Amino acid sequence: ADGARVPVLVIGTGYGGSVAALRLAQAGVDVHMVEMGMAWDTPGPDGKIFCNTREPDYRSYWLRTRTKAPLNYFLGLPIDRDIPRHTGILDAEEFGGITVYQGRGVGGGSLVNGGMAVTPRRENFGAVLPSVNADEMYGVYYPRANAELGVGVVDPAWFDSTACYQYARVGRKHAQRSGFPFVFVPDVYDWDYMEREAAGTVTRSALAGEILYGNNHGKRSLQQTYLARARATGRVAISPLHRVTSVAPAAGGRYTVVIEQIGTTGAVTAVKNVTADRVFFAAGSVGTSKLLVRLKATGALPGLNGEVGRGWGDNGNVMCGRANHMWDPTGALQSAIPCCGIDNWAAGGAFAEVAPLPTGIETYASFYLSITNNPNRAQFSWNASAGKVELNWQAAWKQASITMAKTIFDKINSREGTIYRTDLFGVYKIWGDHLTYHPLGGAVLNRATDNYGRLTAYPGLYVIDGALIPGNTTVNPFVTITALAERNIEKIIATDL
Ligand code: FDA
Repeated sequence: ADGARVPVLVIGTGYGGSVAALRLAQAGVDVHMVEMGMAWDTPGPDGKIFCNTREPDYRSYWLRTRTKAPLNYFLGLPIDRDIPRHTGILDAEEFGGITVYQGRGVGGGSLVNGGMAVTPRRENFGAVLPSVNADEMYGVYYPRANAELGVGVVDPAWFDSTACYQYARVGRKHAQRSGFPFVFVPDVYDWDYMEREAAGTVTRSALAGEILYGNNHGKRSLQQTYLARARATGRVAISPLHRVTSVAPAAGGRYTVVIEQIGTTGAVTAVKNVTADRVFFAAGSVGTSKLLVRLKATGALPGLNGEVGRGWGDNGNVMCGRANHMWDPTGALQSAIPCCGIDNWAAGGAFAEVAPLPTGIETYASFYLSITNNPNRAQFSWNASAGKVELNWQAAWKQASITMAKTIFDKINSREGTIYRTDLFGVYKIWGDHLTYHPLGGAVLNRATDNYGRLTAYPGLYVIDGALIPGNTTVNPFVTITALAERNIEKIIATDL
C-alpha cells in the first residue's frame, strides 16, 4: 500500500528475485516482491491459464497488438497474427539491433522458457564468472540450485523409443555421424509427466506445443519451486501488475521506491511510494540495467559507478534449420521441451540444442538454437531527449555467432548431403540472428557491484539477477543465475543483516 514501510523490497520475481526472497524469509526477514507482469494463477475462458504456440491469443505477448514469434515464417510465409493488447506473458522487447525475449509475470523467465537446466562445464567457468571461486560453486551452489529447481534428465531408454523425440534422434544421428559430441540436456520439466503424456493418460502440455507462452502442466516453473517455498514461510508477499519506476535514498539510510500499478491494458491505475530498508534489483538483465542506468543519469542514484550499463551480451544465441531427406522424417508429434545438444564449444565455440518445430505436421526439418562464444558486448545508455534507455548492440555483431554455429552445421550438411532451410526467418533467410532469449550483463559482478552484488555506493542496494553475468554462460543461463544468487544471498545474510 502507498506509504508502507518494508524491510526488504525485491524488484522482479524471476530466478534471482525468488532465491533472494526464499533465503531472506528463511532467515526471518519479511520480504515484499514487486512484479510488473501478471500472477498467472487464474484460468482464462478456455479453462487454461496459458495458451499454446499454435493459437497465440491475448495471453501471449506483453502489450503488443501483433504477435512477434521468434520463428516468424514458415514455408516463406509470415505467421504472426493480430492480438488484443494485454499484459501477456512474453515480452519481445525491441532495441536498435536486437529483439530481447523475456518472461513477464510471477516467475519471470521460468514461465516461458524451455526449462533447459544446464551447468557449464567446469573448465569453462573461469570465463563465465572470473571473480567467483569455482570450488565453492561446483561444490555447494550449483548442486543447491539444481536440487531446488528440480532438475532431471530424460530416461535414455524412453528417449530411444518415443515418437515425440524422433526429431531429437535424427539430430543425434547427424551429430554423431559428423563426429560431434552429443549430450543429453537436463531440464526442469517433469519427465515422468511427459512419459504419461505420450501414453495418453494425462493432459498434454509439452506434447501439445506448450512452451514460450507458458506450460499448463509438467514444467516446474519458479511458481512450483522457489516461490512456493518462499510463500510457505508466511513472510513473502507478491504484488503482480506493479512496476518499479524509481529507487532513491531516503532518511535513515532507507530507500524510497516508486511503484506504478498497471491494468491489463498497460495503463497506470495508481502510483505508490514505499520505504524499504534494503532493495534487491532482480528485474532481469535488461530490467535491472534499464533501471540503474536511468536512475544514475537522472539523479536518483548518481553515485552508481561507471560500470553500470556495461558488459551486456546475448549469450551468442543464433537459430537455424536444416532440410532433411525424405528418409529422415522428424515426426509430426514433437515434444516442445528440448532434451539434447551438440557440444562443439571447445573446438568451434558453439553449443547447439536440438530444438523442436512443434507444428503438428511432418516438416522434414531439423531446428537448432545455438549458444556461441560471441565476444561482442553492448552498453545501455540514457537518451535524455527520447526519455528512454537504449542498447548499442549492432545487428552485424551476430556474424561471429553464425561463423561459430557453422562449424557444426556446415559439416553436418556436407556429411548428410543436406542444405539449410531458408524459409523459417524470412524469404530466403537462413539465420535467426535478430534475437536473444538469454540477455546477460549490464551490472556485472565485481565491476558495477562488489563481488557479491552489492551496489557499494548505496548500502542496502543489491543486484541479484542475470545482470551480474558478463554476457555469456557457455550454456543456457538460468542454473548459473540461480547458483550465483544462492552464493551471494548466503554472504549477504551472513554479513549485512
Ligand atoms: P527474469 O527475467 O527471469 O525475471 C525478471 C522479472 O522482473 C520479470 O518477471 C519481469 O517482469 C520483472 N520486472 C522487470 N522490470 C521490472 C520492474 N521495473 N518492476 C517490477 N518488475 C519488473 N534459460 C535457460 O537456462 N534454459 C532455457 O531453456 C531457457 N529458455 C528460454 C526461452 C525463452 C523463450 C526465454 C525468453 C528465455 C529462456 N531462457 C532459458 C532464459 C532464462 O529464462 C533467463 O535467463 C532467466 O529467466 C533470467 O533470470 P533473471 O532472474 O535474471 O530475470
